[in-house]
Amino acid sequence: MRALIKPAPGPGLELTEVPEPSPGFGEVKIRVMRTGLCGTDLHLAGWDDFAAEMLNPPQTLGHEFYGEIVEVGPGVSGMDGVGEVNGLRLTPGQHVSVEGHITCGRCRNCRAGRRHMCLHTNSIGVNRDGAFADYVVVPAGNVWLQADHIDPDLGALFDPFGNAVHTALQFPLTAEDVLVTGAGPIGVMCAAIAKHAGARNVVITDLSDFRLSLAKVTGAVTVNTREQDLREVMADLGITEGFDIGLELSGAPSATRQMLDVCNYGARIAMLGLPSASYDINWNQVITHMLTIKGVYGREMFDTWYKADFMLGSSPQLRDQIRSVITHRVTPENWAEGFDAARSGKCGKVIIDWTA
Ligand SMILES: NC(=O)c1ccc[n+]([C@@H]2O[C@H](COP(=O)([O-])OP(=O)(O)OC[C@H]3O[C@@H](n4cnc5c(N)ncnc54)[C@H](O)[C@@H]3O)[C@@H](O)[C@H]2O)c1
Ligand SMILES: [Zn+2]
Ligand SMILES: [Zn+2]
Repeated sequence: MRALIKPAPGPGLELTEVPEPSPGFGEVKIRVMRTGLCGTDLHLAGWDDFAAEMLNPPQTLGHEFYGEIVEVGPGVSGMDGVGEVNGLRLTPGQHVSVEGHITCGRCRNCRAGRRHMCLHTNSIGVNRDGAFADYVVVPAGNVWLQADHIDPDLGALFDPFGNAVHTALQFPLTAEDVLVTGAGPIGVMCAAIAKHAGARNVVITDLSDFRLSLAKVTGAVTVNTREQDLREVMADLGITEGFDIGLELSGAPSATRQMLDVCNYGARIAMLGLPSASYDINWNQVITHMLTIKGVYGREMFDTWYKADFMLGSSPQLRDQIRSVITHRVTPENWAEGFDAARSGKCGKVIIDWTA
């Protein structure tokens, strides 16, 4: 089969032929139809410190995907809670997406049911072979069966959409003024969810007009903070006391500082954006304005997946908005073009179509 692998330590990837994997005990084999490219893949391809620490080449990358079950390994149908996901038995032919974090089941958080806070997580496409291939093998318990209203493109977006759902729904949004910083794919999805959830005003900022143009479809007010004064926009919208909710999706220190400046007293802020280094904020502001700042990582297993599925199921409009973050599609043979587009920043989500 075809696989996009990191052949050896160092920069670069290679599309090559490798043997098809077989599902082991408790695993299923999936024919991959669509994969999404994300920032993690760029780090791994470029071979930075994070990549050197995490990857063990030769290894196949890719963790955002949609496909079809083609084979079920031994033990899957007989194991309680493993062979059954969403109350359905895993069988060949079913369409699925996959939670990329494999949790240990032994640490305190896992045993308490807080699996998204597992201390010993392994990641598909990072610590083990991933989905940039015609076939991938994953633990059955990580599989999410997709409903008919989820097409292959939407299915490939479930990982970042799950990040957005997990972030946006940290705090109630209905009738609140919401600021989203960063109009990358996840920021745009957060803006769409905030609108869907009935926020009063949703304002999304970025420094790139291209990125902000992708957010227009959500109905959020877009602000290029390099060119426009955010406080003037707030005044025009009648946001007189500050934003009630902040969603940080840029990882940029200046965006976080600006968010702290324009939030109301008692505002609540969910932070998913990952900064590249530590940085200062005005803690005096956090304390005297009584702000709540919450770090958000991954998705809740599997409550976020239910919310993602049910929100999309109830709203064709939200489905269209989420799908619209896809700006580029490439074939596996043209993978390098996709990575170039992702690195350029002049893109939304880049999809590799393994059926092409
Ligand atoms: N915590 C997690 O589990 C998790 C999971 C996935 C992604 N992430 C992080 O979440 C963030 C969003 O992901 P993405 O794929 O949409 O990222 P992205 O890098 O595509 O988007 C980030 C956007 O922020 C913008 N930006 C930069 N400086 C800004 C500023 N000062 N003000 C406003 N916008 C600014 C950039 O122009 C870019 O459009 C990234 O930082 C990513 O690393 C975290
Ligand atoms: Zn990802
Ligand atoms: Zn654990």
